[in-house]
Amino acid sequence: MNVLEIANLSLRIGVQDILHDISLDLPEKGIYAILGANGVGKTSLMRCISGIYHPTGGEIRYEGKNIVGLKSHQIVDLGILQAPEGRQIFSNMSVLENLTIGGGPLKTAELDRVLGLFPKLKERLKQGAGSLSGGEQQMLCIGRALMRRPKVLLLDEPSLGLAPMLVRFIFDLVEEIRAQGYSILIVEQNAKAALRIADRAAVIEGGKIVMEGSAKELASDSRVADAYLGGHVAAH
Ligand SMILES: Nc1ncnc2c1ncn2[C@@H]1O[C@H](COP(=O)(O)OP(=O)(O)OP(=O)(O)O)[C@@H](O)[C@H]1O
Ligand SMILES: [Mg+2]
Repeated sequence: MNVLEIANLSLRIGVQDILHDISLDLPEKGIYAILGANGVGKTSLMRCISGIYHPTGGEIRYEGKNIVGLKSHQIVDLGILQAPEGRQIFSNMSVLENLTIGGGPLKTAELDRVLGLFPKLKERLKQGAGSLSGGEQQMLCIGRALMRRPKVLLLDEPSLGLAPMLVRFIFDLVEEIRAQGYSILIVEQNAKAALRIADRAAVIEGGKIVMEGSAKELASDSRVADAYLGGHVAAH
């Protein structure tokens, strides 16, 4: 079953066509990777799903119901949470405050569950979020989304700017989160790592999907290899 179905989605802002005829399905408990160069519309697609941008055409169905037109907070309440590009944590607040903000009364069980995934954050609960390293800030950003117990997690370039060891930690974490039952849509420039953990993937160019298929198919496609995998077909 698909938890999220995007059908013929288009987005125009002013005179600019940003997305055209985007269709993709996120299977329940699946990982779906969105690949593409800078400026092709990946973040805009995430923003359409989370209700920040309002598509000009098409549908986004969540558990069978069209959510286009709903407000961001309604989409959050339905269980679709975004860990946005650039992290966007509250740097003048503590780690604990960032994790518990806007979530109503503190849910200790949720906090314990999230901190179980991020031992580094557990050691730094009182620390100002702005003083965390880039990798820790990314953990906080994902942890904050997980505190709301989403069904669908939207990750926009979680590995951006991280050292290789942390990139590995983040991708391992995404797999672990999926194993806990979440469905994940992930935008990544690190195509190799994304295709390794994803079930399906799409490549976007100029606001359109130019390739779509199983992650295995895309990883062994020479066009993907040339453009996104450094010219080498990934080994399986
Ligand atoms: N609010 C907006 N107003 C005008 N243009 C926008 C707006 N949001 C996005 N765009 C344009 O849409 C295009 C796609 O932007 P988007 O941020 O979705 O790309 P991206 O694939 O996420 O790129 P990157 O890899 O650099 O993050 C860009 O040309 C961008 O300038
Ligand atoms: Mg982006």
